[in-house]
Amino acid sequence: MTLGRVVLLLAAWALSLWPALARAADALPELVARGKYVFGAAGGCACHTTPDGAGLNAGGTKFDLSFFGVVYTPNITPDAETGIGKWTDAQVVDAIRRGERPGGSRLFPIHPYKYLSNIADDEIEALVVYLRSVKPIKSPVPARSLKVPVPTRTIVAAPRVAPREGLARGEYLAGGAGHCAECHTPRRFDASTDDRKFLAGGPGPERSLAANITPHVETGIGRWSEAQIARFLRTGVKPSGQEAHSLMRTVIVGTSAGFKDLTPADALAIARYLKTVPPIENRVR
Ligand code: HEC
Repeated sequence: MTLGRVVLLLAAWALSLWPALARAADALPELVARGKYVFGAAGGCACHTTPDGAGLNAGGTKFDLSFFGVVYTPNITPDAETGIGKWTDAQVVDAIRRGERPGGSRLFPIHPYKYLSNIADDEIEALVVYLRSVKPIKSPVPARSLKVPVPTRTIVAAPRVAPREGLARGEYLAGGAGHCAECHTPRRFDASTDDRKFLAGGPGPERSLAANITPHVETGIGRWSEAQIARFLRTGVKPSGQEAHSLMRTVIVGTSAGFKDLTPADALAIARYLKTVPPIENRVR
């Protein structure tokens, strides 16, 4: 083969790749946007952004878990030294869904992997792309000091593809990225959620008092319509006109995204799902 032919062949090969490359470049912003949406559905992963801290996802929020010890949210920006910049996609996914870090240590289950393990393959891939797209911030966080071994949590096998609509979508979002039960289900002595009181409210993380969001008429949100619940998730305004406060406000407002960015259809799907959980009588306040 003459040099000329080789050049021609190479040129033809490069041209044949061009549409695929162009498509990949087009797909990236779309993937980042989808990942940002999942990030918002997780309340903007707000624990990882400390108010007045180093910036989006730079971590450093201190959680005093009394007799369990003290943990700090890690830096999850793409910074190579202090963030997750050197981790592979699979390692990031394992940390989010299974609480397993690359070195073999396990995250304290204040990271809600009991729920985040439910995020479907197609959505977690997008989430990882989004996490890598934000500004890397060099900011080390203090090491945790635990007084007990890290408790284990059962995790579920994530679906390959996220349900797209209807009740299935609502259950998927509430029990996955939205991790409603992490705050709204009261805890047992070992800090695991007491699922006999699923979503019935009580003392939550950070000395918060989470509401009873079961459809119980007197003590839960049985009187709220689906539209009112959906509106609350997207605006933080309750049927009474009161505004969400405490950690609920944190996840609605989020960071670069939050529950407020849920589509009307997704917020309504969550509301519909909440109407199907067993009503539990539990007066929180
Ligand atoms: C990080 C903790 C946290 C998460 C996650 C969370 N909530 Fe909340 N939520 C709270 C707290 C604390 C309150 C009480 C503050 C308030 O009423 O404004 C609350 C209040 C509410 C209320 C108001 C109820 C009332 O009677 O006033 C609703 C409805 C609600 N949450 C629904 C949800 C849903 C649905 C999800 C998941 C998609 C969710 N929350 C996720 C902490 C959380």
